[in-house]
Amino acid sequence: MRRERRMAEPYKIKMVEPIKMTSRPEREAEAWTAGLNTFLIDSEKVYIDLLTDSGTSAMSDNQWAGMMLGDEAYAGSRNWRNLWDAVEEVYGFKYMCPTHQGRGAEHLISQILIKPGDYVPGNMYFTTTREHQERAGGTFVDVVIDEAHDPRKEHPFKGNVDLDKLEALIKKVGPDRIPYVSVAVTVNMAGGQPVSLANLRALRELCDRYPRSDGRPIRIMFDATRLAENAYFIKEREPGYQDTPIRSIVREMMSYGDGCTMSGKKDNLVNIGGFAATNEREVYEKLTQMVVVFEGMPTYGGLAGRDMEAMARGIYEMVDDDYMAFRIGQVRYLGRQLMGAGVPIVRPIGGHAVFLDARAFLDHIPQSEYPAQALAAALYVDSGVRGMERGNVSAGRGKDGKERFPKLELVRLTIPRRVYTNSHMDVVADSVIALYEGREGIGGLKMVYEPPQLRFFTARFKPVKAEGLWGFVEER
Ligand code: F0G
Repeated sequence: MRRERRMAEPYKIKMVEPIKMTSRPEREAEAWTAGLNTFLIDSEKVYIDLLTDSGTSAMSDNQWAGMMLGDEAYAGSRNWRNLWDAVEEVYGFKYMCPTHQGRGAEHLISQILIKPGDYVPGNMYFTTTREHQERAGGTFVDVVIDEAHDPRKEHPFKGNVDLDKLEALIKKVGPDRIPYVSVAVTVNMAGGQPVSLANLRALRELCDRYPRSDGRPIRIMFDATRLAENAYFIKEREPGYQDTPIRSIVREMMSYGDGCTMSGKKDNLVNIGGFAATNEREVYEKLTQMVVVFEGMPTYGGLAGRDMEAMARGIYEMVDDDYMAFRIGQVRYLGRQLMGAGVPIVRPIGGHAVFLDARAFLDHIPQSEYPAQALAAALYVDSGVRGMERGNVSAGRGKDGKERFPKLELVRLTIPRRVYTNSHMDVVADSVIALYEGREGIGGLKMVYEPPQLRFFTARFKPVKAEGLWGFVEER
């Protein structure tokens, strides 16, 4: 049998950032101080930080060189022009307005397009996206295919929109109450799962069939945060695209939409930044009116000139086919080790992270005792690896005040771009596998502090019973 050929990083290391190894007693103390919430752990006490892929990328020498070319003029910075050019060339949208990060763009777009009583269908929710849609008076409606809610179901494009669910909603409420369909590429909460071009094409066709009374079809607004990763999956899995460059696929994906919000902190390979883009002149005008109130001038939107330059350069780097093959390959390298040891993870392995299925991993802990939160805390205590809860805590409460108990109860091990080597992935795999072997020792949690919005960021927890893994925890 021929061995599969391996691929190394398509870059080499020019600068290193030391990371600290901690002892188990130090980590136990830190976990307790942080209320068993990995968001509240000091990063200096983290060995391998897989909390998020957001703003944690390593920039290239080319991006750092661009930082020195920042034009820090209050108005009309040349870096803004470069960013506009990059968005126009790579995404294909006509108008672009920078924002401090993705949620800044979500805020503006939601306020501009959504009116109270509207419905916003989307291929699964994202925390900040839904929050802004609801603040603008909209009701989010999940129209992702059913497979997305089942961690064990294999499907090449688990992020696809269920067109029947969408059409049923359109028929029920009418196109005038649907300002846009919110399409995330890839779908973060489903496990970094992609949407196919065939699905986007059919979605466009469906939206075109239902004109609103202003004469325009229902809009499609992308959450384009991880669009290049989505394009990689299309190249790999969608018939006919194997020889198409990622750059062309990205362009085709975006051509089915009317605009996007973007968190540059992910695929654009920067530590801060984002933008909103649109093909509609009137929407752009409103963006320029609102951005001055909430972010800054339309030519900087809360960013320094140098930040915009780094993002413009990152946009061209994200569509490099070799980079993306390694990027997705590294996530898979970790995921396959876990699968090989029988650890339950979301399948297929997604674009930016490996998601542990905490429900199956800790099937002795009821969802009301936050198994994913418990697993993320246990992982940190075991090895200093920091992941993130994406389950009942993240889903929060519905309008009725009750917990949502989402089908997916996950721990996300998110891989920053160009930051860690595969040796780091080995360390992570060893720790997760060790925890899986001793899983009965991990107990459930209760929430002892709960903030009203986006509670996962700052909630605090205690063990339900001081035994098992939590036996160590001495109250401080
Ligand atoms: N949309 C998606 C799909 C995201 O994953 C995020 C951020 C945002 C929008 C908001 O962008 O952070 O720049 O304001 N996700 C981060 C994460 C926080 O860890 O998944 P932002």
